[in-house]
Amino acid sequence: MELTLDSPLDMHLHLRDGDMLKLTAPLSADFAGAVIMPNLVPPVTTPDMMLAYAERVREALDGAAFTPYMTLFFTALGEKELTAAASAPGFFGFKLYPAGITTNSEGGVSNLTEAEHTLRLMEETGIPLLVHGESHGFVMDREQEFLSVYRHLASTYPKLRICMEHITTAAAVELLDEFPNLCATVTLQHLLITLDEVAGGMLQPHLFCKPIAKRPADREALLQAALSGHPRLMFGSDSAPHPRCKKEACGCAAGVFTAPVALPKLAELFTTHGAADKLQDFVSGNACRLYGLTPTPKKVTLSDSPMQVPSRYCSFGQEVVPMYAGQTLPWSIKA
Ligand code: DOR
Ligand code: ZN
Repeated sequence: MELTLDSPLDMHLHLRDGDMLKLTAPLSADFAGAVIMPNLVPPVTTPDMMLAYAERVREALDGAAFTPYMTLFFTALGEKELTAAASAPGFFGFKLYPAGITTNSEGGVSNLTEAEHTLRLMEETGIPLLVHGESHGFVMDREQEFLSVYRHLASTYPKLRICMEHITTAAAVELLDEFPNLCATVTLQHLLITLDEVAGGMLQPHLFCKPIAKRPADREALLQAALSGHPRLMFGSDSAPHPRCKKEACGCAAGVFTAPVALPKLAELFTTHGAADKLQDFVSGNACRLYGLTPTPKKVTLSDSPMQVPSRYCSFGQEVVPMYAGQTLPWSIKA
């Protein structure tokens, strides 16, 4: 069996910088483009930083037909700065992190009132707001607790396009249907695993991410929303590579490196559930419609012939372990 996708997009991707960028970028090059996260050290906060980073991303991709949709780390900005950002080539939107909520987010927002003016301007200008939606509460409740913030944002700024990034709960899926200006991304791992896979047996550091994987009912709700073709749900891998020594460590960094297996696993997931016809919209169509994107034309054919996942990727002095390291997957990308 084969499945051909038109211009698949990854609507949430961490590529990092330097040698790690050189290693990871080519592993996403089967996608036609991706929304590139700005949580570098220091975070990408100005158009100049963003343009320079986009250039490094393109260099790392070495001529691949791949569009980096660039984001800026949300900070409170005035009209002049916002206009400059909006007109920077390749700019896609702002990524808002609550301060300290995840990797390199210390400079995020600690009080939403400081963001009000900027959010109003973004609403008027049509700039998308991408949000890491977690509170600082108990780890399993963080997303659920943040839903009131989404409600507040969606009703206060009814024309602001708000993306709930990497949703992990049934409650977040339900919230999508309350507000037409909300959309969401969901990762591969949150469609596949629960907290049991992370910590139910021996601790699996390579499956540890934020938000943490939740309960079976949450995974089921996410999966059903994806398989049924929810029009405002998009694939965003949140593939977040960390050096192996930072994952297999006392004090494990959060992030699952899924880029190399994302498309084969999605093909497997959608075909085994009889939903192959819904995959195109999930990996591209919904994003193109919601954000008005016209990605680089690219056809990617997947087939049900096995893929041997490397136990690690090593180059440029970096070592990263992918999800399903060392395993054989039933689907692969046809060369
Ligand atoms: O697990 C995660 N890793 N969640 C995030 O929000 C950030 C990401 C990273 O950058 O490592
Ligand atoms: Zn992320």
